[in-house]
Amino acid sequence: MTQLKGPRYDFIKLVSTRAVWRFATVAVAMTGAAYAKDADKAAVPPRELQGKIAYCENCHGVSARGFHGYYPIPRLAGQQPEYLKNQLQAYIERRRTNNIMFNVAHVLDPAMLDALTTNLHNLDPKPLVGPAPKELLAAGKKIYDEGLPNSDVPPCASCHGPEAKGDGQLPRLAGQLSDYLFNKLTNWTKERGQDPKNPDASSIMQPIAHSLTEQQIKAVAAYVNTLE
Ligand code: HEC
Ligand code: HEC
Repeated sequence: MTQLKGPRYDFIKLVSTRAVWRFATVAVAMTGAAYAKDADKAAVPPRELQGKIAYCENCHGVSARGFHGYYPIPRLAGQQPEYLKNQLQAYIERRRTNNIMFNVAHVLDPAMLDALTTNLHNLDPKPLVGPAPKELLAAGKKIYDEGLPNSDVPPCASCHGPEAKGDGQLPRLAGQLSDYLFNKLTNWTKERGQDPKNPDASSIMQPIAHSLTEQQIKAVAAYVNTLE
């Protein structure tokens, strides 16, 4: 990593020291504590929670493992609660544009958000693997573990973790649908960070998504899709 240079890389390096992320996690944890107090007052009745999860599974698949429909719908199982909450909030605030998820998210109250994201985090179904070709896996693993020093791309592992499990607002990528990942990485600036007055964590991924070629995205997406 040390051979990477340039102001953009310095910025990324700063963030990927994880000191910043630990700080972010503390901030989010404090918000979580505030939510927890609210949740104590108005705990979500188990039947209501199960009903809501069943509703999410209509689109996100059995055990929220993802679903290949008209377009790929992401896996939510095992995802980091802070990341899930931030994305749901991003849809509500239109920082991340998607009309379907705006409609789903804007009716969720804080207690339900807390209960849902904890519950989804605890699901652990096997990844829904495919349809990416297997011969891309080795190249994908190399990008994931080592980055692309010539293109200023740091190792994905430095932020998303060696096993791609994520941490705080850094999402889990393990087991995520490869075609969903492909769509997100090729459309990054059209969907995320859409409110310049309200910048968010999406700006950290933006230069990385931008620097990857379609072939490199296919490879790294195929690789993380196979991780449990
Ligand atoms: C009508 C179908 C539908 C339903 C119901 C639905 N979703 Fe989604 N969800 C989607 C689609 C489509 C996407 C991908 C949108 C995008 O790419 O921005 C998505 C994306 C998401 C994401 C972003 C995931 C990521 O990896 O960034 C989260 C979080 C999410 N949904 C949570 C939920 C939760 C929680 C529920 C239930 C309360 C739910 N969804 C119900 C269709 C649905
Ligand atoms: C400097 C830290 C950092 C590095 C390095 C990094 N990411 Fe990310 N990544 C993030 C952050 C932060 C987010 C959450 C963005 C948001 O909240 O919108 C993210 C989100 C993503 C998402 C969206 C996940 C979803 O469910 O929609 C994908 C895909 C992704 N990263 C892939 C990669 C790949 C592939 C690499 C390596 C080539 C990589 N990232 C390297 C910080 C990083």
